[in-house]
Amino acid sequence: MAHDPKRAAALAAVDQVQDGMILGLGTGSTAVLALEALGERVRKGLKIAGIPTSERSAASAREYGIPLTSFAEHARADVTIDGADEVETGSLNIIKGGGGALLREKIVACASTRWLVVADESKLVGVLGSKWAIPVEVVPFGWEVTARSLREIGASAVLRNEAAGPLITDNGNYILDCRFGPLKLDRSLASKIDAVVGVVEHGLFLEMAPEVYVGTSTGVTVLERSGR
Ligand code: 5RP
Repeated sequence: MAHDPKRAAALAAVDQVQDGMILGLGTGSTAVLALEALGERVRKGLKIAGIPTSERSAASAREYGIPLTSFAEHARADVTIDGADEVETGSLNIIKGGGGALLREKIVACASTRWLVVADESKLVGVLGSKWAIPVEVVPFGWEVTARSLREIGASAVLRNEAAGPLITDNGNYILDCRFGPLKLDRSLASKIDAVVGVVEHGLFLEMAPEVYVGTSTGVTVLERSGR
């Protein structure tokens, strides 16, 4: 099989999984490669259970034979393997939510002992927000008001649509994709987004101490935040 950087990253992260672990199951094309590899290990006898970050990852987990569980049964996940849209190389701050699953992804990441992010090199950026807008999950009622409030703090908020109309998240909400131009995507901006009425969650994953498995053309590099 030809070398695939995304698959290489996913496989390296799956190597960290041990018998008896509760796993957070990420969403997206890289995370699903991890699910496929986990499924193979489950078939060979690995005992794990997974908490999915989306209905899509739940469906993939079922397809690959990974037993599912929930936070009703387990307070935390030992390890979560998830993808990223952008990873800032210095800080390892991350933008997620390209697949619209950011709320459950953040809940699962925050309740995980280790958060392993899998990505290829195209996701690495010098400055967060260079390529991607920040997805902001909002309550459908009055979303226009919420969008106006986000614009007041500097965002160009655009409703994410699909063919049939606004994209509806697994939680029944909408997504506003927000670009903040020259504004620094830091804690202070994240707090301002959090304070907007109607916002449920945003796709800035800041200071969360991820271990980032980056698939390259030749192998996998693991990035960790200094001072962890
Ligand atoms: C979904 C996500 C994904 O993890 C992110 O979009 C990366 O996906 P991919 O591995 O397909 O590039 O945040 O909400």
